[in-house]
This record gives sequence, structure tokens and C-alpha cells, in this order.
Amino acid sequence: MGQVTEIKSKGLNTKEFIKKKVEEIADTVGDGEAINALSGGVDSSAVTILGHKALGKRLKTYFINNGLMRKDEPEKIVSLFKKLGVSVEIIDAQENFFKALKGITDPEQKREAITQTFYKDVFGGIVRESKAKYLLQGTILTDIDETVAGIKRQHNVFEQLGIDPQKAFGYKIIEPVVQLRKDGVRVIAEALGLPKSIFARMPFPGPALSARVIGEATPERIEKVRKATQIVEEELASQKAFQYMAILHNDRVTGMRDGKREFGNQIEIRCWDSVDARKATPTKIPYGVLTKLANRMVTEVPGVVSVTYNIASKPPSTMEAV
Ligand code: XMP
Repeated sequence: MGQVTEIKSKGLNTKEFIKKKVEEIADTVGDGEAINALSGGVDSSAVTILGHKALGKRLKTYFINNGLMRKDEPEKIVSLFKKLGVSVEIIDAQENFFKALKGITDPEQKREAITQTFYKDVFGGIVRESKAKYLLQGTILTDIDETVAGIKRQHNVFEQLGIDPQKAFGYKIIEPVVQLRKDGVRVIAEALGLPKSIFARMPFPGPALSARVIGEATPERIEKVRKATQIVEEELASQKAFQYMAILHNDRVTGMRDGKREFGNQIEIRCWDSVDARKATPTKIPYGVLTKLANRMVTEVPGVVSVTYNIASKPPSTMEAV
């Protein structure tokens, strides 16, 4: 692929782009089969529809349940795509991922464990059992930029790091939206007929909730951050921010409950204003909203005794904690 040429969202001819990408996918795959993973984010959703336009039933779409998703996410997404006429199979891979994450606390190693489990273990297995030679995926230009710059290893970038997916995993990767940034993908997703709940959806990272747990991502700790995430998403939906999240810290924080000392957890809330995720500033959230969030966290998430709101910008912060 070499150097990727950016296509800006301004002036993007959606009809032409869709036609070209559908043709490219059809030409590349020929009369073979391809597979793709749908996470329900705007990138993988757009790619799923492009792939189905190009290949019909010769594209097999899977939702990999890695155990790190938000509450009820697999079922919600599969039923939404069913309404669009695309059938999606859920693969329960929770054990694979938690096994790979066991004992790992380093952010980069955590990302690497997820990457290897996803591509080699889970997808490798699916590909070996199927006749597919191609994997379609929703890498976007920002993923490549940040990975190449060494800022954060995005889970889906290989070629630019000198990794040949064919050699490493046994299949080729097709990236139909790689010339776009998030705003461009949203325009394409809308033009493809996806609902607003998808094309205007808040970004969510590939490593999912494990990117929001500082330290080891155990099932128990993921469950905690899942509950905290649900609360943040309910309370901050009206802020019209670019992205908001809850992060579980690793320290034991001293608190008190019922007159007794309790060593508990700390949840950090982050809410970002941003255009393209390259730079971001914290949203000026009304204090009453923060107070309500704090009350819900300490009463509804087991073990939480401290709640903070992040006030540092990106850079030097990044939006996710891991
Ligand atoms: P950071 O934390 O790098 O996040 O400032 C920038 C944007 O990218 C999302 N993000 C990811 N998206 N795979 C993705 O597809 C990843 O590995 C990943 N890491 C971060 C993040 O949610 C934010 O919108």
C-alpha cells in the first residue's frame, strides 16, 4: 500500500467513494470469501456495509465478544444489523482475552496481548476453518498516524510497522476507509444508510474497556469499569461532547463508609471536546452534573470511594488512559 493519501471529508463525493471501494473489494476478493469483525463502531460498521455491497453472502461478519465491551453491546449491535439485512455471528472469546491479559499491567503490553489474541488466536482460528483469504477492517488514517508517530500502538495497524499480516497471521487485510479520518467515515456511513445511532456514534477504542483500566484487566475490574461507563454515558449524553469515559485507577485509596475505614477504588471521569481526536480539551461540565456522577459512582459501583474529573488537555494527555 505504501504511503496513504488522505481524502478530506470536505468535498468528499460519497457516491463515487462508495462505488470505487465496492469495486475495489470485489476485484481484490475475486470469487473467494472474506471475513470481517464488526464492533459496532462507525468504522467497522461502514466497512461491513461496503463489504456486503461488494460480496453479499461471501462476506462473513463476526462480532467478537472479547469480554471487554460495554453492557449488552454484542446483542444490541447484532440486532441492529439484522434489521439492515446483514447477519452477524457472535463469537464468545472472553476466555481467550482474559487469559492473554492475565498478569499484564504495562499499557503497551496490554494492547499487544489484545492484538495478538484478536488476529492470531481468534481470527486465525476462524480463517483456518473458513475458506476466506481476506480480512476486511476499518483502519482509519488517524490510527496509522498515531501508531507511526509512536504515540499509541493502535490495535489494527501492521504494514506501517513492517508486519506482513499474510506472514504473521495467514491472511491479507483490506482497508477500505484507510484514507479517511473519523469525520469522513461518518459521512460515508450516513450515505451507506446506517442509522444516526451508528454514524454519529461516539468513538470507542479497539482494546475496549481494557484501555480504561489502569493496571491488570481482570474480569472483576472490567465489570467495575463497565458499570462506571454505563453511568457516565447516561449522565453525560446531553453534554454533546466528542467522547466521555470512566477510568478505573489501580491505587488503593483510603475512604470511609459507615464510620469505618475502607480501602477502595478511584474512578476518573474524562469528557472531551475535540474535532478529530488529535487534540482535545476537557468539557466544562456544570458542577451539579459532576456531583450527580460522583454520587452515583460511590453508591452504584462496588468499592468506589473516590471520583475525579480530568482537567488536563491532549497533548500531553491522551484521551484514553492506556
Ligand atoms: P487517544 O487515547 O490515543 O485516543 O488520545 C484517540 C481516539 O482514538 C480512540 N482509540 C482507539 N481507537 N483503536 C481504535 O480503534 C485503538 O487501539 C484506540 N485507542 C484509542 C480513542 O477512543 C479516541 O477516540
